[in-house]
Amino acid sequence: MKHNTTDRLVNFDIQAFQADLIDWYDKEQRDLPWRKDRDPYKVWVSEIMLQQTRVDTVIPYFNRFITEFPTLESLADADEERVLKAWEGLGYYSRVRNLQAGVKEVKASYHSKVPNTPDEISKLKGVGPYTTGAILSIAYGVPEPAVDGNVMRVLSRILSIWNDIAKVKTRQLFEGIVREIISKDNPSHFNQALMELGALICVPGKPACLLCPVQQHCRAFREGVQAELPVKSKKKAPRPLSMSAAVILDDSGKILIHKRPSKGLLANLWEFPNHESVVEFNTQKQQLSEFLKEEHSIDVKLSTQFTTIQHIFSHLVWNISVFEGTLIGGFEDQEDFKLVTRSELETYAFPVSHQKIFKDFLKVMN
Ligand code: ADE
Repeated sequence: MKHNTTDRLVNFDIQAFQADLIDWYDKEQRDLPWRKDRDPYKVWVSEIMLQQTRVDTVIPYFNRFITEFPTLESLADADEERVLKAWEGLGYYSRVRNLQAGVKEVKASYHSKVPNTPDEISKLKGVGPYTTGAILSIAYGVPEPAVDGNVMRVLSRILSIWNDIAKVKTRQLFEGIVREIISKDNPSHFNQALMELGALICVPGKPACLLCPVQQHCRAFREGVQAELPVKSKKKAPRPLSMSAAVILDDSGKILIHKRPSKGLLANLWEFPNHESVVEFNTQKQQLSEFLKEEHSIDVKLSTQFTTIQHIFSHLVWNISVFEGTLIGGFEDQEDFKLVTRSELETYAFPVSHQKIFKDFLKVMN
């Protein structure tokens, strides 16, 4: 049987639910740095950081980021290299490239004031339906839904909804539901309370129902099915990729680094020279040195393999064999290859996998 949004809310006491949820939030909310004020720029930064990253990880990044780029204009005007460095280690770097593109649009088109309508906000680079609703409700008090995975988990339990939350249609179903049940008096606390409940009580797996402020509104609890919700179809397993990389020094001890292309995975980050390995007669080491010579005219001698690094992305697993190497012959900086000193190296943004490569390199050197 197909349900529409209103069917799902039969016998659901919207007002009592709002009151119980918001009262709990007002007492129990965590003291988080982005809750200190309602500056839409800071709300925007925090919501982008929180999209694929846990609160505990985000806190120090958020504080450093806001210290370095305290206003929307300061981020709009910043050098991309510095912005990437401030995001280094958080992953999903297109988030921050889009964020900077978005704040540049706000500076150019809206006198540096984040717009307050769904139409205008959702057109900004990197701002999808979730971020639109989060900024509008939290910063401007507009009753718009902000539905992410946590909110879908909470509401799928409260209302016993068994649709697959990996599907776009299901998110839209939940957005329709939130439009009906959101507090029009305090949309900011309503949305944040749903997020907070998902983080503290209505957690994945085994939720803490006995502590739940909205237990008496929860259909999954009444039916004893809370552990079976939400329904989420599995993604494909990430594809493994075999790679080789090398930390290559010249005779003065400078280190060779490479800038990744401006599009695609880890765009514009720096890394140690590397290459995807193929199954061949020659070794990974030979493949990497031939690649550097043939594709980039860089002559190197690679020696010991000193570590193996694995890095798991959502769609891909890198298995990297890492070698020591030295430059032979001359080298002149190219657009995407550079020789840098140890202290210069620290100023470039590297993906976590390549930070690990350098850490392991220092270990074997000492
Ligand atoms: N997750 C996503 N947005 C959040 C917020 N504003 N506070 C806590 N957790 C969140």
